[in-house]
Amino acid sequence: MSRLFHQCDTPLLSMLHQWANRDYVPFHTPGHKQGRGASLPLLDCLGLRALQSDLPELPELDNLFAPQGVIWQAQKLAAEAFGAENSYFLTNGSTSGVVAALWSVGANGGKVILPRNVHQSAISGLILSGAIPIFMSPDYDERLGLFHGATSEGVAAALQSHPDAQAVFIVSPSYFGVVGDVGAIATLAHQHQIPLLVDEAHGAHFVFHPQLPPSALQSGADVSVQSTHKTLSALTQAAMLHVQGHRIKSDRLHQALQMFQSSSPNYLLLASLDGARQQMATVGHDLMHHTISLANSIRRGITQLPKLRVLSVEDSGQTPGFVYLDPTRITIDVGELGITGYEADQQLHQRLGVTAELATHQHLTLIITPGTTPGDCVRLLDALSELTQVTPNLSSTLLTQIPLQFSLELALSPREAVFSSHKSVPLAQACNHISADLICPYPPGIPALIPGEVITPEVITGLQQIIASGGWVTGGSDPSLKTMRVVQYDNSHRQPLRGI
Ligand SMILES: Cc1ncc(COP(=O)(O)O)c(C=O)c1O
Repeated sequence: MSRLFHQCDTPLLSMLHQWANRDYVPFHTPGHKQGRGASLPLLDCLGLRALQSDLPELPELDNLFAPQGVIWQAQKLAAEAFGAENSYFLTNGSTSGVVAALWSVGANGGKVILPRNVHQSAISGLILSGAIPIFMSPDYDERLGLFHGATSEGVAAALQSHPDAQAVFIVSPSYFGVVGDVGAIATLAHQHQIPLLVDEAHGAHFVFHPQLPPSALQSGADVSVQSTHKTLSALTQAAMLHVQGHRIKSDRLHQALQMFQSSSPNYLLLASLDGARQQMATVGHDLMHHTISLANSIRRGITQLPKLRVLSVEDSGQTPGFVYLDPTRITIDVGELGITGYEADQQLHQRLGVTAELATHQHLTLIITPGTTPGDCVRLLDALSELTQVTPNLSSTLLTQIPLQFSLELALSPREAVFSSHKSVPLAQACNHISADLICPYPPGIPALIPGEVITPEVITGLQQIIASGGWVTGGSDPSLKTMRVVQYDNSHRQPLRGI
């Protein structure tokens, strides 16, 4: 790349800043005209500076879908910092990157190997591309009560049964910061001449410190999609897709990125990616060093508290899906308190002034980043200490909840199921029907049911338990989930896809 720019520069952010301060008359979008026409409550909330910087694709600000100027330079700097050959800025989150990556490899009935516990964005990618999923059973760690990611054994078996697969897609790290053997999975995919795509939404910080797990690209992945907004300092929804090697067709990827993103990309988001990259490339090592120390001190503090168990690096190595742990991700098992993770989350949020990232039936997960302060850690440990004094909800029978069971029986491809005729049935009577809905407890956003899956009693019970214990379930055509949509399926006309 041109050496005109260095990692301490912010070509896109600086140009945006210049134009936000420029004296000119805007006869272009957005309609608030740099805040002058904004509603007062919005102005009060965001401040004039943010609105002045909300600019469209002025010639000096380049074009996200045909970059030649400051976006091109900012993306090149990002590629260098994150260890990619090419990096693409995303304004619709990792969601758009995952969809675009899957669309670029799996169109028109091509097979893609992936674990069943993917984020819902991967299922959207399958629906939009028409790819046929070859699902691997998720690695469930009974000791910890947690699902991990794909294993190399699972990928090897899937590749043996489906040598015509067009790509392997995995999620790494998991929401809980667990990383498997991505290097071995990359090697297997490459032995079959196909790419490995990694949903690395929660791992944008990995490359900046040696005590963090290796990044997907360092492990040999062809594509990594990262939510720069989740663990680094970009604004919410700002993400990146990184590519290396020759296995991804760049023309198809460019087409996909343009199809699945707004034609009016938000420059606040784009510039925040430039800022986050500059920050991490220049002082990222020190920031992560400090962040890891803080997270370790939280871990030590939690181990002093009764009845709380924190996921730690000592838990790794017992199952093939758990090789590394991101030390900045804190997952606490609250089961021994006699309350669910949802109840613990509610107490912390509503009574104790601490808000976690994720609650599940048995766990709470917290994200520690360079934005976390030592004072935050003190408040967290005080709040957790108070939490250990709560009276257990002995009436709760939910503590015996079994982990969410996936159906794993696919009768139609997700795309076919979405475009079939549907009917609505009560959830309790949906058993043995084919789902037309994507039903997803959120967070973590891993679908319990995807379009095309045969609905089992275990899945229905699991969903009812999540709702009863205070979890959120999204994606159903009926938000209350009293009913759901199933495929109106005529057995006489077609053979199901069972056994793929
Ligand atoms: C594993 C995983 N992949 C993808 C996404 C989507 O990321 P984004 O919110 O940046 O669209 C998420 C969001 O939580 C996620 O957890």
